[in-house]
Amino acid sequence: MSEVSKTAGAPGEVVPAQRSGTEDTFLSVRDLRIHFQTDDGLVKSVDGVSFDVKPGETLGVVGESGSGKSVTSLGILGLHRAAPNARISGEVWLDGEELIGADPDHVRRLRGQKMSMIFQDPLSAMHPYYTVGAQIVEAYRVHNKVTKKAARTRAIEMLDRVGIPEPGKRVDSYPHEFSGGMRQRAMIAMALVNNPQLLIADEPTTALDVTVQAQILDLIRDLQKEFGSAVIMITHDLGVVAEMADKLLVMYGGRCVERGTAEQVFYEPQHPYTWGLLGSMPRIDRDQTERLIPVKGSPPSLINVPDGCAFNPRCPYADIPKDDITRTTRPELTETGNGHFSACHMAQEERTRIWTEEIAPKL
Ligand SMILES: Nc1ncnc2c1ncn2[C@@H]1O[C@H](COP(=O)(O)OP(=O)(O)OP(=O)(O)O)[C@@H](O)[C@H]1O
Ligand code: SF4
Ligand SMILES: [Mg+2]
Repeated sequence: MSEVSKTAGAPGEVVPAQRSGTEDTFLSVRDLRIHFQTDDGLVKSVDGVSFDVKPGETLGVVGESGSGKSVTSLGILGLHRAAPNARISGEVWLDGEELIGADPDHVRRLRGQKMSMIFQDPLSAMHPYYTVGAQIVEAYRVHNKVTKKAARTRAIEMLDRVGIPEPGKRVDSYPHEFSGGMRQRAMIAMALVNNPQLLIADEPTTALDVTVQAQILDLIRDLQKEFGSAVIMITHDLGVVAEMADKLLVMYGGRCVERGTAEQVFYEPQHPYTWGLLGSMPRIDRDQTERLIPVKGSPPSLINVPDGCAFNPRCPYADIPKDDITRTTRPELTETGNGHFSACHMAQEERTRIWTEEIAPKL
């Protein structure tokens, strides 16, 4: 069946799973759809996204603003389920358990323990009326039978590890007493306090200076090394994912347009939108004026999603596939080789030729 014709279930409705994840994946997302009923119409924020992440593996999720990256991650954590205007369908398998159809209390218990998230907006993750330390202590004690004193020691240790100066004192500060960057770090400390097996990091380093950025990425790597955690790293900064990611997923208009290993997506990209993203990637070996070539045009509407390829209005190669198919038929994700998938009507030989002869030499 075409993915285009499907919509998620009725508002608040939860569509239970029929299949199970594979043995060696820790997180398996299948055909996830998260739609919001609004006064303007149905917003298809996430529209049929599938991927797997194994223990110890990092999946990088890239795509421009509004492509559905945050909605996907909040969906995995079950955080849209309370929204009365949300329609959710698909499957989210975490360590062999399906979560979309699971008891919300059970999913809530898994949050902060087995799976945890570094939110894009630190204020949304911290309560303004409690000290930073009290919140980390609470997050730790919910899942560990330890004394308050031991939990406080753990909170101070975590604040120290994320680079907060004088953690023994700052543990008693309120979130508003921290600068934006410090709040971000405190939230990261809270997200990591229970050594989660799945960490979703949504733009984790955007507000931070380069030194702290490196420190946070090291911390995430340590977590992975020590506990074999699976990590989803959402970012606009392809530099971050180039360093960290084993696999990449490129999102456009609520859908995945390309996914594969980081090597495949960086060195043999198959989708014209990915070429655009790579062209807009900062390069340290070029001068500033040459660095950023943004993808021209604006992201597609998620309400009146047109037929055909959502990237068509911005795609410089839209006329290459024959019979005007890009304007009438949505390209499905198709394997182009060895676990590398791309959603484009252009013949693979043509894409390979354009990439190797026209695009890659200019990057
Ligand atoms: N509760 C909601 N109701 C209606 N629309 C929503 C809701 N939450 C998100 N959206 C819409 O879903 C789309 C995807 O949003 P999302 O936050 O996932 O984008 P993003 O890829 O994370 O962008 P950014 O890079 O700016 O963080 C946006 O158009 C957003 O306006
Ligand atoms: S299907 Fe056509 S319009 Fe869409 S990305 Fe491929 S070439 Fe461009
Ligand atoms: Mg976001």
